[in-house]
Amino acid sequence: MGTMGRGIAQVAAMSGCEVLVFDAQSSMLERSKEELVANLKSLTEKGKISQAESEAVQNRYHWCHQLNQLFQSDWIIEAIREDLDLKKQIFLELSGIVSDQCILATNTSSLSVTSLASSVTLPERFIGIHFFNPAQIMPLVEVVPAIQTDPTVLEKSLTLIRDFGKLPISVKDTPGFIVNRIARPYYGEALRILEEGIADIATIDWAMTRFGGFKMGPFKLMDFIGHDVNYQVTETIFKAFYYDPRYRPSFTQRNLVEAGYLGRKSGRGFYDYREGAEVKPPLEDETLGKSIFERIIAMLINEAAEALFLGISSRDDIETAMTRGVNYPKGLLAWADEIGIAQCVTRMDRLYERYREDRYRCSPLLRTMADEQQKFF
Ligand SMILES: NC(=O)c1ccc[n+]([C@@H]2O[C@H](COP(=O)([O-])OP(=O)(O)OC[C@H]3O[C@@H](n4cnc5c(N)ncnc54)[C@H](O)[C@@H]3O)[C@@H](O)[C@H]2O)c1
Repeated sequence: MGTMGRGIAQVAAMSGCEVLVFDAQSSMLERSKEELVANLKSLTEKGKISQAESEAVQNRYHWCHQLNQLFQSDWIIEAIREDLDLKKQIFLELSGIVSDQCILATNTSSLSVTSLASSVTLPERFIGIHFFNPAQIMPLVEVVPAIQTDPTVLEKSLTLIRDFGKLPISVKDTPGFIVNRIARPYYGEALRILEEGIADIATIDWAMTRFGGFKMGPFKLMDFIGHDVNYQVTETIFKAFYYDPRYRPSFTQRNLVEAGYLGRKSGRGFYDYREGAEVKPPLEDETLGKSIFERIIAMLINEAAEALFLGISSRDDIETAMTRGVNYPKGLLAWADEIGIAQCVTRMDRLYERYREDRYRCSPLLRTMADEQQKFF
């Protein structure tokens, strides 16, 4: 019942489900109870729910100290620590406790759903249901069937998420699923631009907000997410893609993690959040800013096109993923149409010619579309 478990439990209870909550540490159950009461109080004060509704939601919670208390569950959504062996172990135990009809789901961000499915009896009832943080607020949920998953389990999961009042998208079981995969260049290319000395952090952040309309520049966002988390996601995806240079992590970010400069939460990351710290303003050079934005957006569009090309998700789900999962101002494929597909190809080819690195290879889908003068929409 950590951060994600608490959010998911609240979503389920608020949609009318009876929720049984289990955590290996009893202290976490106590903390969760306090947090739930505080969240419901805040919703009541804001007039979003009535006092009676708040009480009804609290009554739908059942706090469990033993795993076998979950034996009558129709659904289990696991959100324990991101550790493959630990998760496999708990699913193995659970499949001996629950009925054969119980659907088993994992909220993993980066592990293989297929690998986890292999740890349960009847793996066809296993699926990935990936919420975003905070789960009670973020609308998007990635639903990720393993290769073993029965199609009816996918349909039931999509319906459940809709009943929760959330927006489900269907994604193939590949590293980073959709959102975390497509978002990689937002951080990675910004870091590369910084490392090459093209611009400083404030200028790159300014370029992406000024010309791209992003709510937060990449360095502010990485500081907000926390470098421990953000770096680990990048490293996991990089390894899982057999070291594809498109996802290569950066030494600059690793150094921050090693120094304990984890971002906002530790008072220091790329920016210094300590009291009285000096804030260096961006260099508001329009030509430089535009070139930074154009490079990063080309890489993001290329990644989105490649995910579509490889059938990881549908065109519309890819757009929903980035606008509702990470609040991008526009869907990347619609953005490609606006810029012009041929122009996107030219930008990628220029980067490739300059660096001669596989990192900058243009997606075959973009190239074909440019040749045939097609658009995504
Ligand atoms: N934090 C995020 O932004 C985020 C977003 C989406 C998905 N996720 C995924 O959700 C999962 C949980 O992440 P989190 O950030 O909530 O972690 P967290 O550290 O806040 O919570 C993990 C919880 O698991 C409990 N736990 C550990 N081992 C257990 C066991 N064997 N049995 C029962 N409980 C056990 C811990 O006591 C803790 O309460 C991970 O798989 C993570 O990848 C996290």
